[in-house]
Amino acid sequence: MKRSEGMKLSPAPDIVVGVKVLVTGGTGYIGSHTCLRLVEEGHEVVVVDNVSNSSIESIKRVSQLTDTHIDVLEGDVRSKTRIDAVIAETSPEAVIHFAGLKSVAESVRFPDKYYETNLGGTLNVARAALQGNVAVVLFSSSATVYGESASMPVDEGAATEPTNPYGRSKLYAESVLRDLNAANPALSVGVLRYFNPVGAHPSGVIGEDPRGTPANLMPYVARVAAGTYPELSVYGDDYSTADGTGIRDYIHVMDLADAHVKVMEYKAENSGFETWNVGRGSGVSVLEMVSRFQEVTGKSVPTKIVPRRAGDVAVSFANVSRIARDIGWSAKYELDDMVADLWHWQSQNPEGYE
Ligand SMILES: NC(=O)c1ccc[n+]([C@@H]2O[C@H](COP(=O)([O-])OP(=O)(O)OC[C@H]3O[C@@H](n4cnc5c(N)ncnc54)[C@H](O)[C@@H]3O)[C@@H](O)[C@H]2O)c1
Repeated sequence: MKRSEGMKLSPAPDIVVGVKVLVTGGTGYIGSHTCLRLVEEGHEVVVVDNVSNSSIESIKRVSQLTDTHIDVLEGDVRSKTRIDAVIAETSPEAVIHFAGLKSVAESVRFPDKYYETNLGGTLNVARAALQGNVAVVLFSSSATVYGESASMPVDEGAATEPTNPYGRSKLYAESVLRDLNAANPALSVGVLRYFNPVGAHPSGVIGEDPRGTPANLMPYVARVAAGTYPELSVYGDDYSTADGTGIRDYIHVMDLADAHVKVMEYKAENSGFETWNVGRGSGVSVLEMVSRFQEVTGKSVPTKIVPRRAGDVAVSFANVSRIARDIGWSAKYELDDMVADLWHWQSQNPEGYE
């Protein structure tokens, strides 16, 4: 389906099948799990990635798990020429745009890099999508766009006032997409503001394998449990929370992947620009998360308290009623599933994909 052919993808109003989806950043953590769910739901997937924080092995494994070949094209979203060529070559009906950088701390040190990739890259992808007559664009945004003063659980109407360049790069990219949709209403845009994805496919065959030191809590926890690092640094125990550590809304990556499929199918039939929180709707502290991990896996995770990290907020968890109402999606996996699946992946793949 192309935009000019109308927004309905199938004869039956509630069944959207066989969409050709270009997944930017598809070899990465959330992207690879989403590719798997897309293929499972009968969609056709092509990936473009510069593999700066990932490995093509992830998609080879998705291909094995689904018994379906998935093409991976080399490409950098910072190159408009390359992204134009990829869209011209693949003619996708939908684009799910994951490619981006995600470390708050790194964004404080190198804001230009974050604006170039997350903002500039999104502009390139969106313009190429318009030029290529793509019907649907989904964008990976973040709870980081809300900032400190939002009351929790935060809903999509809350003020956006990110406290760091990463969050601002995501917020500005959302604005670009909103404006492009306003000027080109036939391009259906869905923005997903993720809370904290954790875990791995229950098979343990694919999971999170960031290059270098993980910037997120749980992959670091898993590597401490595996003996790669001696201890976990907990950034601040003086927040105004019950145990003093930061509170986040952790969501199983398979739930998040599933949300993308459902939102993509919904957007194929509904035009406009829409934003959804994607989380579980409950907050868990860093120390609670570490203790769940230790209980479920039986592995020890020594911790040490270090000063707060620039740009971190004390508490962040989602109001998830909008995505439940509009899409009929809600998270299914529990915290214990997240830590068990994370450990399953880590223990089966001590060196990640290498
Ligand atoms: N994981 C999280 O906690 C989280 C939370 C909120 C939002 N997000 C966003 O979701 C998206 C996916 O995150 P993830 O956790 O899967 O991260 P990831 O690093 O595993 O995946 C990102 C992918 O994008 C690719 N990439 C990076 N720069 C690129 C470029 N210039 N051109 C082409 N490809 C490029 C990487 O190689 C990687 O495969 C990112 O945009 C991230 O900002 C992630």
